[in-house]
Amino acid sequence: MPIRRREAAQGFSGDLHEPLSLLSHALRRKGEAVPTDWVEATEESLRAGSMRAMLTTVDGRVAGLLINTIRGTRCFSHLFLSTSGLPEEDARSLLDGLFQEPPPGTRRIDLTLSAVSGEAEERLRHAIPTWGYPLHTYERERMTLRLDSNAPPDQPPLPPGYRFCRVVKFPVGIIASVDFRAFEASPDRGLVADTLSEDERILNELMRGSLGVFVADGSPGVVSEEGGGEDLMGFILSLELTPGRALIADVAVAPEVRRKGIGHALLHRALRGLLARGVHEATLWVTTANVGARALYERCGFITTQREPIYIWEAPP
Ligand SMILES: CC(C)(COP(=O)(O)OP(=O)(O)OC[C@H]1O[C@@H](n2cnc3c(N)ncnc32)[C@H](O)[C@@H]1OP(=O)(O)O)[C@@H](O)C(=O)NCCC(=O)NCCS
Repeated sequence: MPIRRREAAQGFSGDLHEPLSLLSHALRRKGEAVPTDWVEATEESLRAGSMRAMLTTVDGRVAGLLINTIRGTRCFSHLFLSTSGLPEEDARSLLDGLFQEPPPGTRRIDLTLSAVSGEAEERLRHAIPTWGYPLHTYERERMTLRLDSNAPPDQPPLPPGYRFCRVVKFPVGIIASVDFRAFEASPDRGLVADTLSEDERILNELMRGSLGVFVADGSPGVVSEEGGGEDLMGFILSLELTPGRALIADVAVAPEVRRKGIGHALLHRALRGLLARGVHEATLWVTTANVGARALYERCGFITTQREPIYIWEAPP
């Protein structure tokens, strides 16, 4: 019977490159944006101890990996199973460690998961809620639209008093302030960023292209012309993940100007920009709870191609 152990990746002398490569492959298969140098950078951070991970091994090879990224009082954890044999045992041992002894100072853990095979992942998804951890679950949906250069999306007009602009002409601080306000007034409040500065940090990374090639033509903004001003009221940010495949990474419209058709016009503008660049498939992620956003995407032809849970643990008050 092989021995399973839990140990910090920092003190692990075995091969981390292989399980991290399998993990990046599993994430890309699901349409996630994974930076090209992610495997090497993560391996280095784990060895240096600037990123923390726990792992289980079978005969010296990594079977389960739990990577924790700490941001303030939040911990974003990802559980990956790199073997398909008895994955529940590995997962349970890692999650017991995480929830019984959360990283110091952590008030909330957002846990996502993946596995080397779709079947192992599916089994795990069903098993975790039965293990008695105090979790609540969000569901994320991946929505996809195929684009056809012979039938480009039409361009709905903006309401009077608004016009399109390139979002890159605004400093990231302004873009983040619209984004933060938009998400604060949505069912996804706090899901990605719970402070304005965290929002700005994430957008900075995204626009620098660290998750995929930032596509300026697929990233329109809308400004209000009221009072001769140039206030940013909404925007979309798009990345090209692989040639021909784009991720719509962010969609935001300021709360005070919603339901005027701005989101719809922005989305079509972005899709037309992506199509002109040769993109044939656009993907985005949305939570099932975000009924308004899902209605907008469905109206533009997106269909749900995948569903995934995010498990949330919160420290007792
Ligand atoms: C989702 C969001 C971008 C929509 O922007 P918007 O400018 O209000 O959207 P539009 O006015 O163009 O709406 C177009 C259509 O989408 C659907 N829709 C948009 N918001 C909706 C809502 N709250 N409830 C139900 N349907 C909605 C409707 O079909 C609507 O058409 P209608 O107004 O003629 O009924 C905006 O609510 C927002 O920024 N939300 C917070 C951030 C967010 O959740 N982003 C998406 C993350 S994946």
